[in-house]
Amino acid sequence: MSRVVIVTGAGRGIGRAHALAFAATGARVVVNDLSAEAAGEVAALIGPRAVASTDDVGTWAGAQRLVDTAVSEFGGLDVLVNNAGIVRDRMIVSCGEDEWDEVVRVHLKGHFAPLHHAAAYWRGVAKAGGHVSGRVINTSSGAGLFGSVGQTNYSAAKAGIASMTLVAAAELARYGVTVNAIAPAARTRMTEATFADAMAAPQDGFDAMAPENISPLVVWLGSEEAGDVTGRMFEVDGGRVCVVHGWQRGPEVDKGARWSPDELGDVVRKLVADDHPVPVYGAE
Ligand SMILES: NC(=O)c1ccc[n+]([C@@H]2O[C@H](COP(=O)([O-])OP(=O)(O)OC[C@H]3O[C@@H](n4cnc5c(N)ncnc54)[C@H](O)[C@@H]3O)[C@@H](O)[C@H]2O)c1
Repeated sequence: MSRVVIVTGAGRGIGRAHALAFAATGARVVVNDLSAEAAGEVAALIGPRAVASTDDVGTWAGAQRLVDTAVSEFGGLDVLVNNAGIVRDRMIVSCGEDEWDEVVRVHLKGHFAPLHHAAAYWRGVAKAGGHVSGRVINTSSGAGLFGSVGQTNYSAAKAGIASMTLVAAAELARYGVTVNAIAPAARTRMTEATFADAMAAPQDGFDAMAPENISPLVVWLGSEEAGDVTGRMFEVDGGRVCVVHGWQRGPEVDKGARWSPDELGDVVRKLVADDHPVPVYGAE
């Protein structure tokens, strides 16, 4: 039986490439996008094995309808690709409340709400004795992993998605669900300005910035075969796939008693002296 896949934000860019790549494997696809025109166009390209959804993934009810659509149209759900996103880039001092709230809502809640409803569906199937090979692929970003100047709202939301992925992988394993995340880089309307220098013409016929380069990994992570890989973060762009490690403990000291502030200057400087974090994107 072919896989049933939800791709959020599938009307354009990377999500569109995911939807078409899953469809090419024979999957049935719920093509979700706030833009009815964009979602409808991708669903029409795929044909009868696709249905368009215009639900806002950053709302609880919209995310519920999205999962219900997969179940009512195609009889179940196997793969949830959380991909929808927006940017409202601002330096901290000029970032308004709306720009903060909307980015955090669309990314963080827009990942958690579909995850919650999909997880509830899979738990129900598992408890009824059904076979579950659920797969969730979340979309983080280099901005979330390493930070990006002018993108505190986006970086914070994408970092939240990274740790949400770890928790979800741990919680949902018992139901037969894997949860992984990607940090992609590709040419889309979201990144035209950011990657202006990297937008050069294809070299030797390979367009390293094409959104279609991101999708093969996502399709594989969504397959039955990928059941032994969970809780992982992959940077993916062009022909590159790179495992990214999360926060890890570095040098430490333990006095075995409470420190006083004035003795910590030397101690902290020694701890950080040979420990060099990855630079924040866009930092001087
Ligand atoms: N393009 C890159 O290089 C890059 C880098 C890192 C992370 N990402 C992430 O990849 C994902 C896809 O980005 P893209 O570059 O393809 O951008 P894009 O703007 O081309 O596509 C995003 C799509 O999401 C849809 N969308 C926005 N809010 C929505 C909502 N509330 N509900 C449903 N759909 C919604 C938009 O209508 C749009 O079609 C995003 O999460 C983005 O943050 C992209």
